[in-house]
Amino acid sequence: MAPTIATPITDSADIANFVISKGNGVKGLSEMGLECLPQRFIQPLEERISFSNIMPQESIPIIDMSNWNDPKVAESICDAAETWGFFQIINHGVSIEALENVKDATHLFFGLPAEDKKKFLKENSPSRNVRFGTSFSPKAEKALEWKDYLSLFYVSEDEASASWPSVCKDQVLEYMKSSEVVIKRLLEVLMKRLNVNEIDEMKESLLMGSKRINLNYYPICPNPELTVGVGRHSDVSTLTILLQDEIGGLYVRGKNDSWIHVPPISGSLVINVGDALQIMSNGRYKSIEHRVLANGSQNRISVPIFVNPKPYEIIGPFPEMLTGGEKAAYRQVLYSDYVKHFFGKAHDGKNTVEFAKI
Ligand code: OGA
Ligand code: NI
Repeated sequence: MAPTIATPITDSADIANFVISKGNGVKGLSEMGLECLPQRFIQPLEERISFSNIMPQESIPIIDMSNWNDPKVAESICDAAETWGFFQIINHGVSIEALENVKDATHLFFGLPAEDKKKFLKENSPSRNVRFGTSFSPKAEKALEWKDYLSLFYVSEDEASASWPSVCKDQVLEYMKSSEVVIKRLLEVLMKRLNVNEIDEMKESLLMGSKRINLNYYPICPNPELTVGVGRHSDVSTLTILLQDEIGGLYVRGKNDSWIHVPPISGSLVINVGDALQIMSNGRYKSIEHRVLANGSQNRISVPIFVNPKPYEIIGPFPEMLTGGEKAAYRQVLYSDYVKHFFGKAHDGKNTVEFAKI
């Protein structure tokens, strides 16, 4: 029998093993200096971005929150959430230091050797609230996404201190804490337009009963035009607060199937409506499809905070939305079932919300 020659890492199974099981991530692949993208990451044509669909003259709203008591600010927030589902905020009160520190901490975490990051793979992690991985849902995906992430589900400060990676936990906790006020303000303003005038304990648990924070790393890609950083999706959150670095690459769905770039603005936060808020507002606020392109020359990071209902909450249109005889467009669903449905499939645009449609 002819001796088997050790193949270089081009075989699909080897790639998955190196990237996913060994903890190297796509960052490890990228740093090997690959000349061309492995097959496993090649997206079908229809999922690749076509530059003719990008609208460079369009922009999502930018809202200055320095006078957040001004009714005009509240009006712009609600208008943006209704018509765009996406906007950027500046002068939001979250300290620039906290933002810079969490970006630095993200680089620190991904800069760890694979053996250290491997400890946080799903099968090794000391806590089910801490998960390091690649792509979105590799088991369900035909083509993998060009992204590594660390996902942290917040339970309590003590639990986080005990189980989150020590290179980034303090900075992440500080960022979460320092963004609490603006999150609450945004939700209060958005609720007022729905005639929900008070966020009592019950509403608080529905709107913001749990939080997940992701540290995303999008390494340099040898063939960025053939793959995606993150495929088309809407978030399953109530609201997402996203911090991005200065590289760019996030695109939001515009009119007539177009895509609009979300330009990095130093010190800003990107806010978007998630499916849970679309459902609770009975469609008044809309979650919008978005995606991230891979980049051929620069590494990019982003840090979204997903503000979510508590997993065991049952979400559906708020009674306040139905008082005037408006029909419910969504059924009541257990939030954890909704999330499970999302993670059980590859990213597929706005399809997740069909799960809750009547
Ligand atoms: C996400 C997402 C965008 C980005 O993590 O859900 O859409 O810019 N991220 O990383
Ligand atoms: Ni998203």
